[in-house]
Amino acid sequence: MTVTKKRPIGILISGRGSNMGALIAACAAADYPARIAMVISNNPDAPGLESARAAGLATKAIDHRPFGRDRAAHERAIDATLRDAGVEVVCLAGYMRLLTPFLTQAWAGRMLNIHPSLLPSFPGLHTHERALHAGVRLHGCTVHMVTEAMDEGPIIGQAAVPVLHGDTPDTLAARILTQEHLLYPAALRRVLMPDTQPQATADALLCV
Ligand code: GAR
Repeated sequence: MTVTKKRPIGILISGRGSNMGALIAACAAADYPARIAMVISNNPDAPGLESARAAGLATKAIDHRPFGRDRAAHERAIDATLRDAGVEVVCLAGYMRLLTPFLTQAWAGRMLNIHPSLLPSFPGLHTHERALHAGVRLHGCTVHMVTEAMDEGPIIGQAAVPVLHGDTPDTLAARILTQEHLLYPAALRRVLMPDTQPQATADALLCV
């Protein structure tokens, strides 16, 4: 099936950009309902910016530092860039700045985030260390709509992985990142095409 209309999305990154890479790969398929109209980073040195340029995408570094404490002014610059590019939906993909109500309200219902835990467990930073410390046997990742409160908002999709004996934050992060790369494109598709069949794997995870 070929999709005639691909919706323009924007991606916000701060670093490596591997989730952005997963979205780039998904958007390359003719039947995927999105195309990437703009990639923005608050960090001019983000490796992901270079990958996006190499993929032929429009990019812009909007460094937060010259804006000092005026977070909303930084966000107004981001918002203007997204709108100029015709963006309809925004994906936060490792964007490591807290958002103000200006941006969350401007994009309410049209801004997604991926977070490396099974929300509502472990919002915030250092999720893998905290999951290991808490002794949870299942951990994972979540794609959710962005609202004013950090790492809250309606859940669109989640992927769970087992926590294995001997795991370190790095081994756990790597196992989850593989799932993030599957989850984000699937969750975005679900948002853009809500009438399509929900996807779920048949296997239940049982961990003792
Ligand atoms: C990902 O694991 C993502 O879930 C996490 O940062 C990493 C970015 O990796 N996001 C957050 O922690 C947001 N609170 P990437 O740049 O390779 O996509």
